[in-house]
Amino acid sequence: MSYYLGLDIGTGGSRALLVDEQGHVRHAFTAPHEDMRMEHPLWAEQRPENWWEASQAAIQGVLHEGGILGADVRAVGLSGQMHGLTLLDSSNRVIRPALIWCDQRSQPQVDWINERASAEFVVKSTANPMLTGFTLPKLLWVRDHESENFARVKKVLLPKDYIRFELTGEYASDVSDASGTGLFDVVNRRWAFELADKVGVARALLPAAYESSTVTGKIHAHAAAATGLKEGTPVVAGAGDQAASAVGNGIVEPGIVSCTIGTSGVVFGHLKEPAYDPKGRVHTFCHAVEGAWHTMGVTQGAGLSMQWYRNQFEPGAGYDDLTFEAAGADAEGLFWLPYLMGERTPHLDALARGGWIGVTAKHTRADLVRALIEGISFSLKDCLDLVATLGVDIQSVRVSGGGAKSAFWRQMLADIFNKRVVSLETQEGSAYGAALLAMPGPVQETCKRVIREVESVEPRNADRYAKKHAVYQSLYPALREFYRT
Ligand code: XUL
Repeated sequence: MSYYLGLDIGTGGSRALLVDEQGHVRHAFTAPHEDMRMEHPLWAEQRPENWWEASQAAIQGVLHEGGILGADVRAVGLSGQMHGLTLLDSSNRVIRPALIWCDQRSQPQVDWINERASAEFVVKSTANPMLTGFTLPKLLWVRDHESENFARVKKVLLPKDYIRFELTGEYASDVSDASGTGLFDVVNRRWAFELADKVGVARALLPAAYESSTVTGKIHAHAAAATGLKEGTPVVAGAGDQAASAVGNGIVEPGIVSCTIGTSGVVFGHLKEPAYDPKGRVHTFCHAVEGAWHTMGVTQGAGLSMQWYRNQFEPGAGYDDLTFEAAGADAEGLFWLPYLMGERTPHLDALARGGWIGVTAKHTRADLVRALIEGISFSLKDCLDLVATLGVDIQSVRVSGGGAKSAFWRQMLADIFNKRVVSLETQEGSAYGAALLAMPGPVQETCKRVIREVESVEPRNADRYAKKHAVYQSLYPALREFYRT
């Protein structure tokens, strides 16, 4: 039997999936990552070496679990957390821990780029405003604060592309992930070299950028020994986790939108042509589908809010227990602002902070959790509304990720979005999309062949949530100045 291997380098762990030629997931294995290191509020780092350890464990684990030989794997597809800064020196050693997607320390560097290159030139070159989350300002933070490290940089790689380097020895990226660096010409699907020149980033630091289904290299002997894959197995470019998840959800043509609740939460819409929010509140990036683009709104602290709550207040509790408890509460007059790592959509505010508003002595722990789930969902509704303003036709929303596992949460999303919410037979998201990208033939055809809707939920209580959402929306403007004190 032949298999395609999808490997997703997430925030919490690396997940390997073996998918057969009919698109069925045969085996899965996740190897957890070390926790993010947060030396200061709004800083977040991880060790790339730990991603590689976890990737080896995940690949070995999935092959072992299925009793499958490396020789039965036809091709490998990669996906990964976006925007992270991995720096390699001239001996290909990792120079320092990666500043990852949710790290918000680089506002001074964003301001400097906007002054040096002009904010208009940034948008003209990359189709997006510069943001603290993107890779370029993180690189310039290293330049400004760790000049010795900066002087040693030979290559700048995104998280999954560091794993690609370990697997194949090639420096390469794909157009969807490269779009989130702040250095990619999204309209023309190539590096924005002129912008790199203006901000003093040597062109040679950047890897080659390919379309997502292109083979970028082959498993080399050392990686074969480390993982159990066969030497010479092709590895395709793959995609950033959100574009890969969209492929896994079949968002490869207009009309359907996806909502993925992982550590972050993302609403993703397919675009036939690049289209922009004038304020840059949603990103415009290349899709993993050749000749297509996408827009996405991002809630920084979606699953992260649940994870933080669980770790701090109910360690050991399962997420199913938490959502079950929340389903029996009503969180009357109680709101959660999910800004644990600043916020992207709709506020673009690296300094925003999270919290409950409106707690009274009547509220219980279950109310606090319910407010949390509502707050995350309200933020995703803001993402959905902005995606709609770009002309994306939203008939229904396909949900995936940890949050979508709960029937209670799916109904709440249908009510808050006021849209039909659909679940798919395979809810594997990014790793599944990565495996589909590794299959032969156009990815739209693959998706048509293998992706099936299995459940749909209609809105039942849209009015109640619309009122509460309006109050939620009034809270950030009231607190904005406080975040700056
Ligand atoms: C997308 C983003 C996150 C990360 C982590 O822009 O920052 O989704 O990719 O999942």
